[in-house]
Order: sequence, then C-alpha cells, then structure tokens
Amino acid sequence: MADTLDRHIRGLVGPARTIYEESIKVWGEDRATVLIGRDPAWVATLEKVSRLAVATSPILIVGETGTGKELIARGLFLLSTQYRRAFVSVNCAQYTNEQIMASELFGHRKGSFTGAHSDHAGLFEANEGGLIFLDEIAELSLAAQAMLLRAISEREILPVGATRAKPVNVRIVAATNRDLRALVEQGTFRADLFYRLHQLCVRTPPLRQRGRDWELIAQYHLDRLAKTYHKRKSLAADAVEWLRGYSWPGNVRELTGCIETGFHMSVGDEITLRDIGEALEATVQDDQLRRTASASMPYSSAEYCERISGGEGTFWELIYEPFMARDLNRVQVREVIAHGLALADGSYKRMLRLFGMPDSDYLRFMDFLRHHRLKPPRERVMAARLMDGGSPEAGRRAARAARRGENGQYTQPDREAR
Ligand SMILES: Nc1ncnc2c1ncn2[C@@H]1O[C@H](COP(=O)(O)OP(=O)(O)O)[C@@H](O)[C@H]1O
Ligand SMILES: [Mg+2]
Repeated sequence: MADTLDRHIRGLVGPARTIYEESIKVWGEDRATVLIGRDPAWVATLEKVSRLAVATSPILIVGETGTGKELIARGLFLLSTQYRRAFVSVNCAQYTNEQIMASELFGHRKGSFTGAHSDHAGLFEANEGGLIFLDEIAELSLAAQAMLLRAISEREILPVGATRAKPVNVRIVAATNRDLRALVEQGTFRADLFYRLHQLCVRTPPLRQRGRDWELIAQYHLDRLAKTYHKRKSLAADAVEWLRGYSWPGNVRELTGCIETGFHMSVGDEITLRDIGEALEATVQDDQLRRTASASMPYSSAEYCERISGGEGTFWELIYEPFMARDLNRVQVREVIAHGLALADGSYKRMLRLFGMPDSDYLRFMDFLRHHRLKPPRERVMAARLMDGGSPEAGRRAARAARRGENGQYTQPDREAR
C-alpha cells in the first residue's frame, strides 16, 4: 500500500517536491504538504509561488473556494528561509464582532473595553518572526483593515486602547475567493490595502481548468483511503466518464469529498456514478437553486429587509405568506433571513426587533425556520454581510429600524396566518 502512495510523492514536480520535503522536516510525515498536479496551469502557479517565496512583501492568493489557497500559503512558508518561526492560519470570517477581531489580531490593553481584564497580545505580536495566513481577507472589518495596512506599511501595530505603537515583524499572506476590486468599488474594502496586497498576487486556477489533474488527485485520495481502511477501491468507468465533463464548482475540496463519499457508499471495489451522485447533486442543486432564486425574486433580499424594517408590511405578510403560497422558495427566504441576520450581527432576537416583531413572536418565528429548514448557513450570513450589512448606510438603516421596533411601532402580525 505504501508503495502506491510513494508513487505520488515521486511524481511531485519542481517546487512541489521541495515543499513536500520541507513539510516533513517542519510538521512530520503525518502532516506532509502534498501538492498534486501536472497541468501547465498548475505548474505555472507553483513556479510563481517558488519565485515569490523569497519576497518579504505581503502576498495575496486569489482563487475559487477549494482550489488550494491554504496549501499554497503553506508552500510559500516552506519554500522561504525567512519568517520560519511559525505558520499561523487565521480565518477572518470567524469573528462575529469587530472589537474581538481587532483585539485577536492586534491585541488590546487592559480596560480598553468591557471584558478587557488584562493586557492581551494579538496574533501579530505573539507570532513575531512567523508567517500569518489571513484567510478570507475580504471579511476583515474596515477598522481591522486599517490596522493591517499599518502593520504592513509601517511595520507596527497599535493594540486596541494603546497609545503607543509596537514594532512587529511578520510575513503576511492573505487569501480570498472574492473579487476584491469590486469590494473596493462597493466601499467594503480599503483601496490602499487592496493595492498594497495586490502587488504580489498568485491565482490558483479552478480545477476545471487543470485538465486531467482531477484524476491524479482522485487517485491520490483513493490510495490514502486504501492505506487508512485497508481496502482498495477505484472509480468505475461510468463515473470517470461523467466526472470528465463535470465543472467542480467546489474544486479540490469537492473532489476529495466526492471520492470519500464514493469510497464509503460503494458496495464492491468499484465506485459507480450512483455512489457519488448524491454528493455531487447537493452542490449542483444548491448552486442552481441559488441562481434561479435571485433571478425570479420580485425584490432583492436587501430590499425585502428594508421593506419589512421600514414598516411596509410584516415579516409574516411579506415573507411567510408568499412562502406558504409557494410564491417564494426556500432558498429565497433563506437569503432574506441571511441578510436580516447580517444586519442584526448574527442574533435572531435582534433580527426580530429589526423586523418590527414583538419578542413574543420569537418562538413562532424560530419554529417556522426550523420546520421549513430556513436557517441560512453561516457563510451565507457572512456573504450577505459583505454585500450590504457592512456598509455604513445599512448600519444606520438597521439602527433606525431597531429603534422603531423598540418603541413598539410595529404592525401586529397576522396570527391567523398559521
Ligand atoms: N493540488 C492539490 N493536491 C492535493 N490536495 C489538494 C490540492 N489542492 C487542494 N487540495 C486539498 O483540497 C482541500 C482544499 O484546499 P484548501 O487549500 O483548503 O483550499 P482553499 O483554501 O482554496 O479553499 C484541502 O484538503 C487540500 O489538502
Ligand atoms: Mg481555505
């Protein structure tokens, strides 16, 4: 079994081989960094990575989700000789609150806000001499972006509540799957930070543009699974045939998920199309539904939120009733909820007030969401937040609406509508 895995390692090209060898030295065999692929688009990406690895300026990695941005960041770390003290990966989307984000990254001084009981060193300070990978950089708040810019251009940070800046020496690698230039135009991403980050940029090509690399990666994963479960399985001809024409919207992450599902679902030693169908359909359906959702909605989710919080109609009238009458579908309602949640900082209670509903509607509202599986996944809320929730105008609108709600000027929901 080990031999078949070795074959993949021996096949690693150029920088991928060095990355692998270094990763074993730093993290050990179990956490080796293996970058599979031979397509020219992928090889060109790796070569660019190896040239940029020596640079000390920040590097931006842009690419669709699941294309290997984090692996490339590890590659940049392993190929360089500087900033080797630590590799720290930070998902900027994990922070629900701006204050927490700023203090986690840049630290805070005791008493700078409620709950700041002592001085706290941020990630930048704690990982001096290392590489900080800022994943989903587009999710950083504008305040945190300003601090990051300072860390990059002045090489110093100002912890929350501090009066004096501290020098800091770290390497910054940022990643995003979003069009930062468009976000700059929308005003949710700082132009100066964008230009600073964009100078050295690596693009990870989508899997569908890497020829037959998907087959190599699939085989690598099958060999790994064989080693773990002591069972060798392969893709059946019908599956290979179908997958050759597939567009892999979730890229390598989707591919590995699909191989793993197929491995466990298949009865014999062949993974047929039926064994992987469900895993793929979920992505395809969701994607298609979402696209048709925005096409056929009478208003955008932002407009719905505005109409409800502006008192043009209650949530029950504008969303619940059309949903029950099948004029709005589940994905559409989920988008409105995601939007409302983004405006309400992720709190359902606050969102209810924003929508002008009395607190006594809370249980009915949550039951409705649960019963019809309308709770949006976290990433949708984050995405909605960037589309609108992050703008100052949206914030003001939300605050106005929340005040109206608290003053009790809402329309009583139609209780017959149940
Ligand atoms: N070229 C590749 N060879 C092998 N595995 C890969 C490759 N690219 C990505 N992967 C795997 O796919 C998954 C997604 O990669 P990741 O770097 O997290 O993508 P992204 O950060 O772009 O969403 C990870 O499990 C990673 O190990
Ligand atoms: Mg990632």
